[in-house]
Amino acid sequence: MHIMDITQNSVRAQAKNIEITVTENPAENLFAFSVKDDGFGMSEELLKRVTDPFATTRTTRKVGLGIPFLRQTCEMCGGKLVLQSSEGKGTYLQASMEYDNIDRPPAGDIASSIFLIIQMNPGIIFKYSYSYNSGSFELDMREVLEVLGGVPADTPEVSAWLKENIREEMENCRTMEGK
Ligand SMILES: Nc1ncnc2c1ncn2[C@@H]1O[C@H](COP(=O)(O)OP(=O)(O)OP(=O)(O)O)[C@@H](O)[C@H]1O
Ligand SMILES: [Mg+2]
Repeated sequence: MHIMDITQNSVRAQAKNIEITVTENPAENLFAFSVKDDGFGMSEELLKRVTDPFATTRTTRKVGLGIPFLRQTCEMCGGKLVLQSSEGKGTYLQASMEYDNIDRPPAGDIASSIFLIIQMNPGIIFKYSYSYNSGSFELDMREVLEVLGGVPADTPEVSAWLKENIREEMENCRTMEGK
Protein backbone atom coordinates (compact mmCIF):
# COMPACT_ATOMS: atom_id res chain seq x y z
CA MET A 1 0.00 0.00 0.00
CA HIS A 2 2.84 2.40 0.89
CA ILE A 3 4.68 1.51 -2.33
CA MET A 4 1.64 2.37 -4.42
CA ASP A 5 1.11 5.58 -2.48
CA ILE A 6 4.71 6.74 -2.82
CA THR A 7 4.80 5.82 -6.52
CA GLN A 8 1.61 7.82 -7.01
CA ASN A 9 3.50 10.87 -5.73
CA SER A 10 6.06 10.32 -8.50
CA VAL A 11 3.31 9.97 -11.08
CA ARG A 12 1.76 13.22 -9.89
CA ALA A 13 5.18 14.87 -10.17
CA GLN A 14 5.08 14.03 -13.89
CA ALA A 15 7.93 11.55 -13.78
CA LYS A 16 8.86 9.89 -17.08
CA ASN A 17 11.03 7.25 -15.46
CA ILE A 18 10.45 5.59 -12.11
CA GLU A 19 12.70 3.06 -10.43
CA ILE A 20 11.27 0.91 -7.68
CA THR A 21 13.34 -1.44 -5.57
CA VAL A 22 12.11 -3.88 -2.96
CA THR A 23 14.59 -5.54 -0.64
CA GLU A 24 13.55 -8.44 1.55
CA ASN A 25 16.51 -9.50 3.58
CA PRO A 26 15.61 -11.61 6.59
CA ALA A 27 19.28 -12.66 6.83
CA GLU A 28 20.14 -9.07 7.75
CA ASN A 29 16.79 -8.36 9.34
CA LEU A 30 15.94 -5.75 6.74
CA PHE A 31 12.85 -4.93 4.74
CA ALA A 32 13.24 -1.89 2.51
CA PHE A 33 11.89 -0.27 -0.59
CA SER A 34 12.86 2.77 -2.58
CA VAL A 35 11.24 4.87 -5.28
CA LYS A 36 13.30 7.14 -7.51
CA ASP A 37 11.76 9.46 -10.06
CA ASP A 38 12.71 12.16 -12.53
CA GLY A 39 9.65 14.26 -11.81
CA PHE A 40 9.57 17.94 -10.91
CA GLY A 41 10.95 17.41 -7.41
CA MET A 42 10.36 19.49 -4.30
CA SER A 43 11.52 22.90 -3.25
CA GLU A 44 13.78 22.99 -0.20
CA GLU A 45 10.97 24.51 1.77
CA LEU A 46 8.53 21.75 0.86
CA LEU A 47 11.14 19.06 1.41
CA LYS A 48 11.74 20.41 4.92
CA ARG A 49 8.08 20.42 5.68
CA VAL A 50 7.52 16.94 4.33
CA THR A 51 10.49 15.46 6.22
CA ASP A 52 9.79 17.30 9.45
CA PRO A 53 8.01 14.78 11.66
CA PHE A 54 5.93 17.58 13.16
CA ALA A 55 5.11 19.21 9.85
CA THR A 56 1.51 18.12 9.82
CA THR A 57 0.72 19.64 13.19
CA ARG A 58 2.84 22.76 12.87
CA THR A 59 1.92 24.15 9.49
CA THR A 60 -1.24 25.65 8.24
CA ARG A 61 -0.92 24.62 4.62
CA LYS A 62 -2.10 21.15 3.89
CA VAL A 63 0.59 18.53 3.64
CA GLY A 64 -0.54 15.04 2.79
CA LEU A 65 -0.31 12.03 4.99
CA GLY A 66 1.52 9.62 2.70
CA ILE A 67 5.11 10.42 3.64
CA PRO A 68 4.57 11.25 7.34
CA PHE A 69 2.56 8.03 7.75
CA LEU A 70 5.28 5.98 6.06
CA ARG A 71 7.94 7.65 8.18
CA GLN A 72 6.02 6.77 11.31
CA THR A 73 5.70 3.15 10.18
CA CYS A 74 9.46 2.95 9.45
CA GLU A 75 10.45 4.43 12.79
CA MET A 76 8.00 2.30 14.70
CA CYS A 77 9.61 -0.72 13.03
CA GLY A 78 13.21 0.15 13.91
CA GLY A 79 14.00 1.64 10.52
CA LYS A 80 13.97 5.05 8.91
CA LEU A 81 12.84 7.10 5.99
CA VAL A 82 15.32 8.84 3.73
CA LEU A 83 14.03 11.50 1.37
CA GLN A 84 16.07 13.44 -1.15
CA SER A 85 14.64 15.79 -3.71
CA SER A 86 15.90 18.40 -6.07
CA GLU A 87 13.61 20.84 -7.82
CA GLY A 88 13.38 20.16 -11.52
CA LYS A 89 15.43 16.97 -11.21
CA GLY A 90 13.56 14.40 -9.21
CA THR A 91 13.02 12.66 -5.95
CA TYR A 92 14.43 9.66 -4.15
CA LEU A 93 12.73 8.02 -1.22
CA GLN A 94 13.94 5.05 0.74
CA ALA A 95 12.00 3.35 3.50
CA SER A 96 13.50 0.71 5.75
CA MET A 97 12.18 -1.47 8.55
CA GLU A 98 13.38 -4.39 10.63
CA TYR A 99 12.25 -7.53 8.86
CA ASP A 100 11.18 -9.29 12.01
CA ASN A 101 9.65 -6.27 13.73
CA ILE A 102 6.28 -7.22 15.18
CA ASP A 103 4.81 -3.87 14.09
CA ARG A 104 5.89 -4.22 10.47
CA PRO A 105 2.79 -4.26 8.27
CA PRO A 106 2.47 -7.40 6.16
CA ALA A 107 4.14 -6.92 2.78
CA GLY A 108 1.03 -8.12 0.98
CA ASP A 109 1.02 -9.02 -2.69
CA ILE A 110 3.93 -6.90 -3.93
CA ALA A 111 4.03 -8.61 -7.35
CA SER A 112 0.44 -7.60 -8.08
CA SER A 113 1.01 -4.07 -6.83
CA ILE A 114 4.04 -3.62 -9.10
CA PHE A 115 2.14 -5.06 -12.04
CA LEU A 116 -0.79 -2.69 -11.42
CA ILE A 117 1.49 0.32 -11.06
CA ILE A 118 3.08 -0.46 -14.44
CA GLN A 119 -0.25 -1.16 -16.14
CA MET A 120 -1.93 1.94 -14.83
CA ASN A 121 0.82 4.23 -16.08
CA PRO A 122 1.56 3.30 -19.70
CA GLY A 123 3.30 6.63 -20.34
CA ILE A 124 5.97 6.02 -17.69
CA ILE A 125 8.96 3.73 -18.03
CA PHE A 126 9.49 1.62 -14.95
CA LYS A 127 12.44 -0.26 -13.64
CA TYR A 128 11.74 -2.73 -10.88
CA SER A 129 14.41 -4.48 -8.84
CA TYR A 130 13.64 -7.09 -6.25
CA SER A 131 15.87 -9.06 -3.97
CA TYR A 132 15.37 -11.71 -1.34
CA ASN A 133 18.62 -12.16 0.59
CA SER A 134 21.15 -12.84 -2.18
CA GLY A 135 18.57 -13.75 -4.84
CA SER A 136 17.70 -10.85 -7.12
CA PHE A 137 15.77 -9.95 -10.22
CA GLU A 138 15.39 -6.85 -12.34
CA LEU A 139 12.68 -5.82 -14.76
CA ASP A 140 13.54 -2.97 -17.07
CA MET A 141 10.46 -1.93 -19.01
CA ARG A 142 12.64 0.03 -21.42
CA GLU A 143 14.17 -3.27 -22.55
CA VAL A 144 10.81 -5.01 -22.60
CA LEU A 145 9.31 -2.25 -24.76
CA GLU A 146 12.29 -2.43 -27.12
CA VAL A 147 11.83 -6.14 -27.59
CA LEU A 148 8.12 -5.59 -28.16
CA GLY A 149 9.02 -3.14 -30.90
CA GLY A 150 5.88 -1.03 -30.86
CA VAL A 151 3.45 -3.55 -29.41
CA PRO A 152 1.94 -1.76 -26.40
CA ALA A 153 2.58 -3.31 -23.01
CA ASP A 154 -1.13 -3.31 -22.17
CA THR A 155 -2.25 -5.77 -24.83
CA PRO A 156 -3.77 -8.81 -23.09
CA GLU A 157 -0.90 -11.16 -24.07
CA VAL A 158 1.87 -8.84 -22.92
CA SER A 159 -0.06 -7.92 -19.83
CA ALA A 160 -0.55 -11.56 -18.86
CA TRP A 161 3.12 -12.29 -19.49
CA LEU A 162 4.21 -9.31 -17.41
CA LYS A 163 2.04 -10.23 -14.48
CA GLU A 164 3.21 -13.84 -14.49
CA ASN A 165 6.85 -12.87 -15.06
CA ILE A 166 6.99 -10.56 -12.05
CA ARG A 167 5.33 -13.11 -9.80
CA GLU A 168 7.49 -15.99 -10.99
CA GLU A 169 10.81 -14.13 -10.85
CA MET A 170 10.08 -12.93 -7.32
CA GLU A 171 9.20 -16.47 -6.35
CA ASN A 172 12.50 -17.67 -7.85
CA CYS A 173 14.43 -15.16 -5.77
CA ARG A 174 12.82 -16.53 -2.65
CA THR A 175 13.53 -20.16 -3.43
CA MET A 176 16.88 -19.87 -5.19
CA GLU A 177 18.58 -17.42 -2.85
CA GLY A 178 22.22 -18.46 -2.45
CA LYS A 179 22.84 -20.30 0.75
N1 LIG B 1 8.00 12.26 -5.76
C1 LIG B 1 7.62 13.52 -5.52
N2 LIG B 1 7.92 14.52 -6.38
C2 LIG B 1 7.54 15.80 -6.13
N3 LIG B 1 6.83 16.17 -5.03
C3 LIG B 1 6.50 15.21 -4.14
C4 LIG B 1 6.87 13.84 -4.34
N4 LIG B 1 6.42 13.14 -3.28
C5 LIG B 1 5.79 14.01 -2.49
N5 LIG B 1 5.82 15.26 -3.00
C6 LIG B 1 5.26 16.47 -2.41
O1 LIG B 1 5.11 16.25 -1.03
C7 LIG B 1 3.76 16.39 -0.64
C8 LIG B 1 3.43 15.42 0.44
O2 LIG B 1 3.39 14.09 -0.04
P1 LIG B 1 2.52 13.01 0.71
O3 LIG B 1 2.56 11.73 -0.04
O4 LIG B 1 2.95 12.99 2.12
O5 LIG B 1 1.07 13.64 0.69
P2 LIG B 1 0.11 13.87 -0.56
O6 LIG B 1 0.57 13.04 -1.73
O7 LIG B 1 -0.01 15.34 -0.75
O8 LIG B 1 -1.25 13.35 -0.02
P3 LIG B 1 -1.65 11.82 0.21
O9 LIG B 1 -0.43 10.96 -0.05
O10 LIG B 1 -2.10 11.77 1.63
O11 LIG B 1 -2.71 11.58 -0.79
C9 LIG B 1 2.97 16.19 -1.94
O12 LIG B 1 1.76 16.89 -1.90
C10 LIG B 1 3.90 16.78 -2.97
O13 LIG B 1 3.77 18.18 -3.01
MG1 LIG C 1 1.11 10.93 -1.43
